[in-house]
Amino acid sequence: MAGKWVRMVTAQTPTNIAVIKYWGKRDEALILPVNDSISVTLDPAHLCTTTTVAVSPSFDQDRMWLNGKEISLAGGRFQSCLREIRSRACDVEDEEKGIKIAKKEWENLHLHIASYNNFPTAAGLASSAAGFACLVFALAKLMNAKEDQSQLSAIARQGSGSACRSLYGGFVKWIMGNDEDGRDSLAVQLADEKHWDDLVIIIAVVSSRQKETSSTSGMRETVETSLLLKHRAKEIVPKRIVQMEEAIKNRDFASFAQLTCTDSNQFHAVCLDTSPPIFYMNDTSHRIISVVEKWNRSEGVPQVAYTFDAGPNAVMIARDRKAASLLLQRLLFHFPPNADTDLNSYIIGDKSILQDAGI
Ligand code: DP6
Repeated sequence: MAGKWVRMVTAQTPTNIAVIKYWGKRDEALILPVNDSISVTLDPAHLCTTTTVAVSPSFDQDRMWLNGKEISLAGGRFQSCLREIRSRACDVEDEEKGIKIAKKEWENLHLHIASYNNFPTAAGLASSAAGFACLVFALAKLMNAKEDQSQLSAIARQGSGSACRSLYGGFVKWIMGNDEDGRDSLAVQLADEKHWDDLVIIIAVVSSRQKETSSTSGMRETVETSLLLKHRAKEIVPKRIVQMEEAIKNRDFASFAQLTCTDSNQFHAVCLDTSPPIFYMNDTSHRIISVVEKWNRSEGVPQVAYTFDAGPNAVMIARDRKAASLLLQRLLFHFPPNADTDLNSYIIGDKSILQDAGI
């Protein structure tokens, strides 16, 4: 392994948007959730993380840069992911470059990691989901770890819960699992990216500022104080998961939209039921909900589903291209450019929103 070689791997992973939300942990260290969740993985062209991981005998410590700025790797979440992947590293032989790394050498080699998001970090657009999924995927390739996507998802989960769902494209379920060690808390693909490719996603970027309450501390406070969360996790979500799986299987947009909107609203109700209450949506978010609700009602059948994560940005899923273009017209009418609202841009998934997360 002597010499001044560098071995590098680059991966690109899209973010995912939950249509049945994860909110609340039963184990903070292992990141084990209080309920199952379901998400849609976005088209990598629009919201994704690109990560290059490099290893070289000339590196004297692990280092990481996010969007060009060096960040600390001291946090427990990075360390958990690095530890888990390192423990699964295998022999690597790259004949072309003359690189040979034996399994046992990995523990003494250091890594350099450079990661870029093509969207605002920590503005409720699930940047940590794409980030940790991409990191774990790239490291697994670099170290020749033999784990399949589901096993990798259980590692990415320890970086950020929602990250486990970004290991797959299409529709993905994070099974909460029962084991105390979290081995069965992992993601599975419900349907691939081709299954329902009429759908079009439009994200209204209401604010690209960093959110005030992080998901991690927000959900901790909710778990400690909200009775509504207990009811949601035990009684509501298990039934909704079954209904959502059925809606996805049958490409039943009416049920899909109804479940998606209701679940987003209940997640924000749970935030409001937290003490002190957490407000992720703002007036513009509420106005967007009204516009979509009114339009859906006037059409008789839903045209668009909306969902909001831990921030004010609206993620809207239109049933087809026609509905997407009518939605954009409506949004531009209600929120014209340069008007006195905080809505500043749109991100549009113009083809299929559902693509394979792997490289
Ligand atoms: C509202 O996965 O960011 O987006 O596990 O603490 O890192 P940690 O939280 P995170 O929470 C995401 C919450 C959500 C809903 C969801 O994606 O299911």
